[in-house]
Amino acid sequence: MKIRKAVIPAAGLGTRMLPATKTVPKEMLPLVDKPVIQYIIEEAVASGIEDILVVTNRAKSAMDDYFDYTPELEDRLMRAGKTEELEAVRRTADIANIFYVRQKETKGLGHAVYRAKRFAGDEPFAVLLGDDVMMAGVPVTKQLIDAAELHGASAVGTQLVAPQQISKYSSLKVEPLSARVMRVLDMNEKPRPSEKFSDYAILGRYVLTSDIFRILENTAPGYGGEVQLTDGLRELCKCAPMVAVDFLGRRYDTGSLKGFLEATIDFALQSGEVGAWLREFIGNKAKSF
Ligand code: UTP
Repeated sequence: MKIRKAVIPAAGLGTRMLPATKTVPKEMLPLVDKPVIQYIIEEAVASGIEDILVVTNRAKSAMDDYFDYTPELEDRLMRAGKTEELEAVRRTADIANIFYVRQKETKGLGHAVYRAKRFAGDEPFAVLLGDDVMMAGVPVTKQLIDAAELHGASAVGTQLVAPQQISKYSSLKVEPLSARVMRVLDMNEKPRPSEKFSDYAILGRYVLTSDIFRILENTAPGYGGEVQLTDGLRELCKCAPMVAVDFLGRRYDTGSLKGFLEATIDFALQSGEVGAWLREFIGNKAKSF
């Protein structure tokens, strides 16, 4: 099982970040000096992915522009001798083979993933949610790919969340398999406290076999009237092996204001000169509270 394709669903409406996301896709909001989507694509590339499909919509063409050449800007930078900036701009255009498909109606994550049917063909593929950014030593997608290949199974990324938080996520029924890897027996989407299987939540990364398309084709709208990927995964885990990887790393939901601010601060603190400046700035602020 060799995984060389990835799908990035990025066609959500981003209503939790309005009014900013009225005209700017949430995936294009900058975390320090790069848009959110670049972190996701870099994670895929660092995990060995060669071809990437981004699921977009009519309001998100800024994303495909960003990964294109910008001849006038590049020419200006070259003539001004701004080689560092020129390289940064060029790098984004040559980062990977990126394909785009539009989800014409916002009918849910399961519906968005189904748009990748022709792109994936019969191959297994990774899914990285376009607003879930990870900070990790080994890329989280790579951790999932390794487990999927080892066990010949689909994989979902998971971590334990606080018991009062699980109703915001999909809850997993699991049993231990090996270090940080569990067998998935069942799952449910946004469960009430009495219905949850565990506090292991699915968090933004998946490796799926093409069986998911056959299932999603017949998956009726579920929670919130949308076609839920979790409903498809629930069926998939009953008919084929699936593992949950308790990944090492920190996940940020940049589609929420708090998650976006946390990610901004944590990534800024990690970045050289800006990090040193921010540490001092926060230190001085803290003294004045
Ligand atoms: P989210 O629920 O986090 O994103 O979807 P959203 O729909 O933009 O959220 P609100 O409006 O702020 O509540 C999870 C992922 O699924 C994608 C989103 O872009 C995000 O990456 N998605 C969701 C789609 O691609 N299509 C959809 O119809 C729904």
